[in-house]
Amino acid sequence: MRRRAALALAAGLPACAFAQAEVPLRQQARQAGRGFGAAIRSEILAIDPVYAALYAAEAEILTPEWEAKWEALQPEEGRFDHTALNQIIAFAQQHQQRLRGHALIWHQAMPPWLTTALEEGPARARGVLEAHLNAVLPATRATIRDWDVVNEPIANPPGSDNPQPGNESMRQSPWFRALGRDYVEIALRHARALDPTLRLTINEYGVEEATPDAATKRTRLLGLLRHLLDRGCPLDAVGIQAHLQLRRPFEAEPFARFVAELREMGLAVLITELDIREADALPTGLAARDAAVAARAAQFVSAAIGAGCRTVLCWGLSDRDSWLAKEPAVARADGVVTRGLPFDDTLRRKPMWDALARAMR
Ligand code: G3I
Repeated sequence: MRRRAALALAAGLPACAFAQAEVPLRQQARQAGRGFGAAIRSEILAIDPVYAALYAAEAEILTPEWEAKWEALQPEEGRFDHTALNQIIAFAQQHQQRLRGHALIWHQAMPPWLTTALEEGPARARGVLEAHLNAVLPATRATIRDWDVVNEPIANPPGSDNPQPGNESMRQSPWFRALGRDYVEIALRHARALDPTLRLTINEYGVEEATPDAATKRTRLLGLLRHLLDRGCPLDAVGIQAHLQLRRPFEAEPFARFVAELREMGLAVLITELDIREADALPTGLAARDAAVAARAAQFVSAAIGAGCRTVLCWGLSDRDSWLAKEPAVARADGVVTRGLPFDDTLRRKPMWDALARAMR
C-alpha cells in the first residue's frame, strides 16, 4: 500500500486514489453506505478456491444464480432439496455476506410437475404456490431476508403475448394463465402472511434503456405496481435486472425519472443482475471493448445511485462464468466471449471494476 501511495503522490494524485484501487468493491460500496454483490454458483464455489476468494473479498450480497429457483428447491412435488442453496448460505455466513432469494414465482426454472399442476385449474395452482412458500420461506427465514417473490411478470413490448383485453401489460406466463393478474398479489400476500419483516421484491428486466420498448415496459410495470399498492398489497422493493446492451442507447434522465417514480411510491429500488452485452460489431482490441463496457457501467450505475438506488449486484463477477458466455440465446454467434462483468475470464479486474468503484463511491 505504501508503494502505491508513493506512486500516487509522484503522479500528483492524492494517495487515496491508489489506495482505493486496493479496496474491494464491497468495502468501497459499504464506505459510501451502499451494498455491492453478485450472483454466485454453488457448483463453481465447491471446486474453485480462487472463485471463492474473489466472492469473499468483493461481494457483500450474494444471489444464488439457480439454487433458490423452483426446479432446484422442489424438483418433485413435496420433495424439497436445499443442498445446493445451503452451500451458498454456509459460505455467506462464513464471510459476513447477505443473501437475496431468487426467485419464488417465475415462468422459467419450473420442473415439469409444476407446469402440469398449473394447467389443473386455479385451486391447484394456488395450492402449489402456497405450499412452495410455506416450505421455503420458514426454512430460509434466518438467512434470506429479501426475496424476488415474483420475477418478470410484465409482457415484453412491442405488442404483448397476452390476448386478454385489459391485461396486455401482463406476461402470459403459466401463472397468469392459471390465476390471472392476481397471481402476483396472491404470492405477495402469502409471503407477507408467512413473514412480517421479509423484504418482498418484484424483479424485472428490459426497463433500463432509451428505447420505445423499454419506455413501454416501464409504463406497464408502473401500472402493475400502482394497481398492487392501491389495493394495499404488501410490496417493499423493485429489482431492476439491468442486463444492458451496448447496441441499445441509454440516457440517464428517463431512467433516473423512472427510479425516482418508484421511490415516490415508497419502494426501494435495487439493481439486481447487472451485466453488459457488447455490440455486434466489436471494436478491435480488448482495451477499446473494455472501455466501452466500463463507460456504460459508469453511466448506468451513477444514474441509478443518483436516483436513490443503494444496492447494486452484478449477474456474476467474471466473464468466464457469465451466462452471456454460455446461454445460446445471448452468446455471440462468432463465439467471442462478451466481456460484460467486472472481472475477466482469468478473474482479473477490468476497467468495469474501476467504473463500478467510482460510481458507488
Ligand atoms: O439444475 C442443474 C443442477 O442440477 C446442476 O447441478 C447445475 C450445475 O451444473 O446446473 C443446473 O442447471 C442449470 C443452471 O443454470 C446452472 O448452470 C439449468 O439447467 C439452467 O437452466 C440454469 O440457467 C440459468 C437460467 O437463469 C435459468 O434458471 C442461468 O444459469 C442463469 O444465469 C439465468 O439467470 C436469469 C435470472 O434467473 C433471471 N434474469 C435473467 C437471467 C439470465 O437468463
